[in-house]
Amino acid sequence: MSGSNRLQFHLAPGGALRGTLRVPGDKSISHRAIMLGSLADGVTGIRGFLEGEDSLATLGAFRAMGVSIEGPDDGRVTVHGVGMHGLKAPSGPLDLGNSGTSMRLLSGLLAGQSFDVELVGDASLMSRPMRRVTEPLARMGAVIEATEAGTAPLRIRGGQRLRGIDYDMPVASAQVKSCLLLAGLYAGGRTCVTEPAPTRDHTERMLAGMGYPVAREGSRACVEGGGSVRAASIDVPSDISSAAFFLVGASIAPGSDLLIEHVGVNPTRTGVLEILRLMGADIEVLNPREVGGEPVADLRVRHAPLHGIEIPEAQVPLAIDEFPALFVAAACAEGRTVLTGAEELRVKESDRIQVMADGLRALGVDANPTPDGIVIEGGAIGAGRVDSCGDHRIAMSFAMAALRASGDIHIDDCDNVNTSFPGFVALAAGAGLSIRAEGE
Ligand code: S3P
Repeated sequence: MSGSNRLQFHLAPGGALRGTLRVPGDKSISHRAIMLGSLADGVTGIRGFLEGEDSLATLGAFRAMGVSIEGPDDGRVTVHGVGMHGLKAPSGPLDLGNSGTSMRLLSGLLAGQSFDVELVGDASLMSRPMRRVTEPLARMGAVIEATEAGTAPLRIRGGQRLRGIDYDMPVASAQVKSCLLLAGLYAGGRTCVTEPAPTRDHTERMLAGMGYPVAREGSRACVEGGGSVRAASIDVPSDISSAAFFLVGASIAPGSDLLIEHVGVNPTRTGVLEILRLMGADIEVLNPREVGGEPVADLRVRHAPLHGIEIPEAQVPLAIDEFPALFVAAACAEGRTVLTGAEELRVKESDRIQVMADGLRALGVDANPTPDGIVIEGGAIGAGRVDSCGDHRIAMSFAMAALRASGDIHIDDCDNVNTSFPGFVALAAGAGLSIRAEGE
């Protein structure tokens, strides 16, 4: 998908973030809207769809399986659902680019189809762990071939009779939970997943909102196979994971006062708000409302002096995608910030602990990776060159670091920002970041 790796960000130091903005649609919800809309009976209209490469990879996969999908057009997508058993064999492997969510959720959804399918992706995705889904799926009766290392390509054999299982997840992963619940729609009997800590629950909410009952008992979610999904109108809120860069940027840059509108504030996603507040951030949650079964609010963030903290481990799954940005906040805080219990960060789009530590050190910050986290001593941010290693969230996090840097920051390998945040450069520049992209 995004193969060239030539895009660089160049940032001049200083500035403040001011005004009102809206970041693109939620990536997790956009994926699920395409998936469930495709399986539904009837026509699903989506608004606020994220037109990023990851969610477009999901959209392309369903088109390749015979689903007629119009758009995206300014965030509007129309999905002509084919029903639970209406997908068709694609003519070749499904290329899911950089998108872990597409691959893990699709492996469950496709395990119970009548046809074979192969899932592939870019170099990062092909090196990410897939046993966490293939093992429990095999227990359900799925037949999936992976590499010896447990990575993609995943070859899913169709025509299997799946049976429900009761699965205790060893890692707190919404992708694994969603994968198994989606497989459970096609399984005989009941499929239950118990999570060791709360993870994002968009799949459960959307299934229930589209008429497919999900039993939720504490940390356990269960579905009964054999039901059907009703078409719906889905309004995707802005992605709090994309808002996170601006929450951090405005917090660290003196003179900032920013309003970020229509942000999804599902309580399984708001760890970034909690952690920043513990560090002393000034964030107001305004006008809370519910849109299509998901809580939404406007977030006002003003500059505030931050201090280092020990990040509560319970917050880790609730802020799992926001740590690159939070590490930049920690680098600008007074004192030491300690993260533990976050080994999952090592198997995201990059090893986010190592890549962030390397980048922070390149800017003169004292950052020490540990097996399951990092220790960051707050202080001054220098100038320098950082390699984002093709990880969208790392590129955008270091862009925000420029607000407090002593000189220019150059960030390499930024193409993948388009996987989750198309238009980042223009939006950030409009808010006050001195950013220039080169090599497009
Ligand atoms: C996601 C779940 C998270 C997150 C990813 C999106 C989802 O992964 O990191 O960006 O949409 O379910 P894990 O559930 O594996 O932690």
